[in-house]
Amino acid sequence: MNGGIFYAIGVGPGDPELLTLKAIRLLQESHSIYVPVSRLSTQTWVADVVEMYAGEGAEVQTVSFSLGADRQERQEHWRQTAIEIIEQLRSGRNVAFVSLGDPLLYSTCIYLLRALREQWSQVPVEVVPGISAYAHCAALTGFAVGEGEQPVAILPTVTAIQDIRSALQRGGTLVLMKIGRHLADIISLLEENGLLDQAVFVARAGMPEQRIETDLRSLRGADPAVGNLAVILIHTDATETL
Ligand SMILES: C[S@@+](CC[C@H](N)C(=O)[O-])C[C@H]1O[C@@H](n2cnc3c(N)ncnc32)[C@H](O)[C@@H]1O
Repeated sequence: MNGGIFYAIGVGPGDPELLTLKAIRLLQESHSIYVPVSRLSTQTWVADVVEMYAGEGAEVQTVSFSLGADRQERQEHWRQTAIEIIEQLRSGRNVAFVSLGDPLLYSTCIYLLRALREQWSQVPVEVVPGISAYAHCAALTGFAVGEGEQPVAILPTVTAIQDIRSALQRGGTLVLMKIGRHLADIISLLEENGLLDQAVFVARAGMPEQRIETDLRSLRGADPAVGNLAVILIHTDATETL
């Protein structure tokens, strides 16, 4: 019997029309589909998209990715998931793991791919790139991400606010992801640097609760939950606006 293939599929940031043709085809060809779910339940729409495109008879299951602070515990979780997946691949089943946006940008899929390769160095894998959240946020706001020779930096905001301060000073475009509870601090930092008018905020792009703010002042005093599943794009140079 031929073995199956592991598909790491990027399903885009939220809009069910922002999947690639390849993502749709491989979802349809998968016997088993893993959907990561978080404590914030932000991924429920991922489950909806999977339901929309999965083939008849596909087995869909959720896998948790909010696994606490213990690194060893997290690794063990991914090791167990990898073992389970490899068993299916060896029995000829195609297994998909779906990721929000692109599977290789701040995605849990990276941990799983690593765990799979640790168990089976030649594991048959196909990675299907997805439209990353920042690209959709840029499209929704007409924000030119990179132009000419200007650098573009992507930062997860979980990083120290000091790192964002230094990145602002390096110039070019800054893409801030994983905003979460840091929203208020970022707004203050932008104000301090005179950049409030050169930044845009998009939360839950492509989802029913989508929120776009081109004036970040309106987010002052906002519920910190507003920062969940949000991106801020910043032109550090006034000449960069479209
Ligand atoms: C774990 S990372 C996943 C990134 C994803 N792999 C990508 O390529 O966009 C989650 C972060 O992506 C961003 N994000 C994902 N989907 C989004 C959406 N629909 N709207 C705005 N931001 C989103 C947010 O910054 C969120 O905190």
